[in-house]
Amino acid sequence: MDNINNLRAVILAAGKGTRMKSSTPKVLHKIFGLTLIERVINQVLKVDGIDKIFVVIGHGADMVQECLDKSYDKEKIKTVLQTEQKGTADAVFRAYNDLENFEGNVLILCGDTPLLDEKTLSDFLEYHNIKQADLTVMSALLDNPAGYGRIIRKQDKSLEKIVEQKDATDEQKTVNEVNAGVYCFRWKKIKQAFFEISTNNSQGEYYLTDVIEWAVKQGLNTQAYILEDSKKMLGINLKEQLSEAFRILNGEKLEELHKKGVTIYDDKSTFISPETEIDEDTIIYPNVYIEGTNNFGKHNIIGPNTTVYGNVKTEDNVKITQSQVSDLYADKNTTIGPFSHIRDGVKLAEKVRVGNFVEVKKSTIEDHTNCAHLSYIGDASLGSNVNIGAGTITANYNAITKEKNKTILKNGVKVGSNSVLIAPVTVEENANIAAGTIVTENIPPEALAITRSHLRIIADWVIEKKRLFLKK
Ligand code: UD1
Ligand code: CA
Repeated sequence: MDNINNLRAVILAAGKGTRMKSSTPKVLHKIFGLTLIERVINQVLKVDGIDKIFVVIGHGADMVQECLDKSYDKEKIKTVLQTEQKGTADAVFRAYNDLENFEGNVLILCGDTPLLDEKTLSDFLEYHNIKQADLTVMSALLDNPAGYGRIIRKQDKSLEKIVEQKDATDEQKTVNEVNAGVYCFRWKKIKQAFFEISTNNSQGEYYLTDVIEWAVKQGLNTQAYILEDSKKMLGINLKEQLSEAFRILNGEKLEELHKKGVTIYDDKSTFISPETEIDEDTIIYPNVYIEGTNNFGKHNIIGPNTTVYGNVKTEDNVKITQSQVSDLYADKNTTIGPFSHIRDGVKLAEKVRVGNFVEVKKSTIEDHTNCAHLSYIGDASLGSNVNIGAGTITANYNAITKEKNKTILKNGVKVGSNSVLIAPVTVEENANIAAGTIVTENIPPEALAITRSHLRIIADWVIEKKRLFLKK
């Protein structure tokens, strides 16, 4: 017997998504930083036994391909092209050559259903397996079934066929069990169907749904698995459904975090991606948006008014307030904000403080170093116990060569306010940079670097000026 451990998937993503009213292909719309197609693929990849996924692309194929190339290994995710959208069965047929002699089960789903999670798919496949089915279709009971294909059952409740809305009789339209658009085929039993279905329907398309009637007529074991939670099948056809899916994913995440012991004060203004993990006793203040994959430790404070764009990992007792952060590793007891901007590739060691109006990019900052006000730290490496005075700039960019250069400040370096470090430059241990200094060459350890015109004090200057003015 074949089992679910010999499994391939076909994801349909060639359609245009006309109703999205967008120049971006439908499946490239994002929720919490991940495209719809990536969300679907990521869940399918988690399913036990999946060894290969075929993605059928057509509209905006180049853009979709580029997105997939960035995120996945070509060995595992293979695209097949459907140049003309001749229907869902034709779309699956594009993968026929790759599947022809395949012995296991083929899971088929659409690229625009981001709420179908691994658990739902696994439950569905388990049902297919327990029933020893040749074909299983996922269905759902909806209050408003309009628009979907209807599941038509025989007197004895077994499956008969699926009828599309556009082809349904008035009586069939009253059926509220709909086709969720997810199927599992015992491939060698079903593959012949693709040569036998026709385009004899109101849309003149090859309907994948016709495979069900074909299988029933062949006397094959054909089953429907009714979804417990019908919102999992939500397909994105309209912008309002994109926001609905966003709200549902967010709601599920916040509920999970509440249960886990994270304090979230205002669910209405808190948005956290499904890919974000947060440990207990972390506090999330209002107005927080977190997308991408992140991992926050215990007893963190996040917010208010904080945006996280992904790739953040923090240890315990980290505080990030009123700031924008992406791509950060922050060790214990670091403080970021208010009003900090942490960009790509930033590593902060224990007890580092990055304060207001400080931008940090591609930099490593060692323990107990402060960078408290009004600074730009880019392509820099700051040692332990360094103090960066207000208004310090690492001038990392050479506008002629367009190169970025490194600034290295060793342990114990003190940089006075309003200094400019013209990179590439190294300041050795414990050296001091006087306020207002432009550092253009390497500074030896324990030295003072100072570029400053002498201070002149002109006595009674104001009085003299006023006297001259009053004479006129
Ligand atoms: C389809 C089902 C319907 C089901 C619904 C669930 C058919 C005939 N109907 O209808 O029973 O209730 O999904 O959401 O299958 N696609 C291609 N190539 C094509 C046509 C479609 O790749 O030639 C892709 C689309 O990009 C989309 C998916 O297949 O991801 C579904 O196509 P769509 O036209 O949206 O089908 P529905 O009318 O929604
Ligand atoms: Ca659809």
